[in-house]
Amino acid sequence: MTQPKKLFIKTYGCQMNVYDSERMAEALGGQGYVETPTADDADMILLNTCHIREKAAEKVYSELGRYKRLKADKPDLKIGVAGCVAQAEGREIMRRQPMVDLVVGPQSYHRLPELEARTRAGEKALDTDFPEEDKFEALKNRPKAKRGPTAFLTVQEGCDKFCAFCVVPYTRGVEVSRPPARILEEARNLVDRGVRDITLLGQNVNAYHGAGERGDWSLAQLIWALNDVDGLERIRFTTSHPNDMTDDLIEAHGTCPKLMPYLHLPVQSGSDRILKRMNRQHTAESYLAIIDRLRAVRPDILLSGDFIVGFPEETEADFQATLDLIRTARYGYAYSFKYSTRPGTPAAERDQLPEDVKDDRLQRLQALITEQQKAAQDAMVGQEIGVLFEKPGRLPGQMVGKSDHLHAVHVQGDDIQAGDLRPVRIVESVRNSLKGELIE
Ligand code: 5AD
Ligand code: SF4
Repeated sequence: MTQPKKLFIKTYGCQMNVYDSERMAEALGGQGYVETPTADDADMILLNTCHIREKAAEKVYSELGRYKRLKADKPDLKIGVAGCVAQAEGREIMRRQPMVDLVVGPQSYHRLPELEARTRAGEKALDTDFPEEDKFEALKNRPKAKRGPTAFLTVQEGCDKFCAFCVVPYTRGVEVSRPPARILEEARNLVDRGVRDITLLGQNVNAYHGAGERGDWSLAQLIWALNDVDGLERIRFTTSHPNDMTDDLIEAHGTCPKLMPYLHLPVQSGSDRILKRMNRQHTAESYLAIIDRLRAVRPDILLSGDFIVGFPEETEADFQATLDLIRTARYGYAYSFKYSTRPGTPAAERDQLPEDVKDDRLQRLQALITEQQKAAQDAMVGQEIGVLFEKPGRLPGQMVGKSDHLHAVHVQGDDIQAGDLRPVRIVESVRNSLKGELIE
């Protein structure tokens, strides 16, 4: 038997990239590759890149620079760039870093085996098309190997919203939903392999409208169908746009037993003036009305959000409106960013705010969020909740898992196995996690 070739994948950015990296590893598994945790002994290095942050392309070029020596020592080593930077930069990557053998955009992963074969034949391989065929279908030969209790499952990709700051509609393309039958099949496969908690992924996941029996399904319909999958215990979804929080989805948060009390619903700003300039198509009030409706059906729902500070033309008063919205909405988690320009997006052409103003606002916003995060975590003390255990903790006999609300929970217990979902009483809130005791 020939030795397996070793594949090192370095993943940047969002959860969809984590999912994509798994699919790429599976696709190359058919070419005799097994994954390795280090670049040093790899036969192929793949960077799965992200374009959402500033200077994304520059960071990829400097990372590639680090592999120069490896490639010099091992001429057979193949180096590939995948993900959103690959999509945005295309052939430019091979021009600036001639040692790169392969460039593949997010819509073309299913063509990896063929692209890899071309690199082995000494060619350069580039594919940044938006192909007609269904890449998920082509990747369907799913492995049977056991895996951990949590998984991501992409149900929708791309976005038609065109927020003025965002590259996603350009790098991931138009909104496309996968058919529900395929998603259910993939979910059952994951459950057979030990998965009990699935997070449905999409750049605009609640715009989901996959073609199924009797017409298109909404995300809520898909969630209800997944609720019937035996062995699956928990369902979440991310990331949503406020305008696609339909009545049936809000209702499901109150009635669907396996849908967890957690929602990531970015608002970006609390100022209507800025929301308009961001092309968000919603107001602070319409956003808060959704939160009210969600809390009415599920009072303990934990809210998470994304915020951008220092968007062009943002005044101190606009920023105060964002802080006001945060105080009203109350978040359990949040991700906050200084606005930074993305070439090709409308806001990149506008006058920019000074960096020190952005820094100051980010700091104040994060201080408020940290306070709220701590309050939400502290409020869990004394509660009895489900914890899905994932791995051993740092102390002997300790296991770590996630609560229904996605808090990390540490529990002592020699009989706890990874994959167990057990009732736990929360006894203490510590920095960034909770401590709990098994309820026997
Ligand atoms: N500048 C700063 N933050 C951004 N995000 C997206 N584009 C930009 C940008 N140009 C943030 C948004 C989005 C999250 C994934 O990244 O808050 O919700
Ligand atoms: Fe980007 Fe989200 Fe706006 Fe779509 S809805 S353009 S992914 S920020």
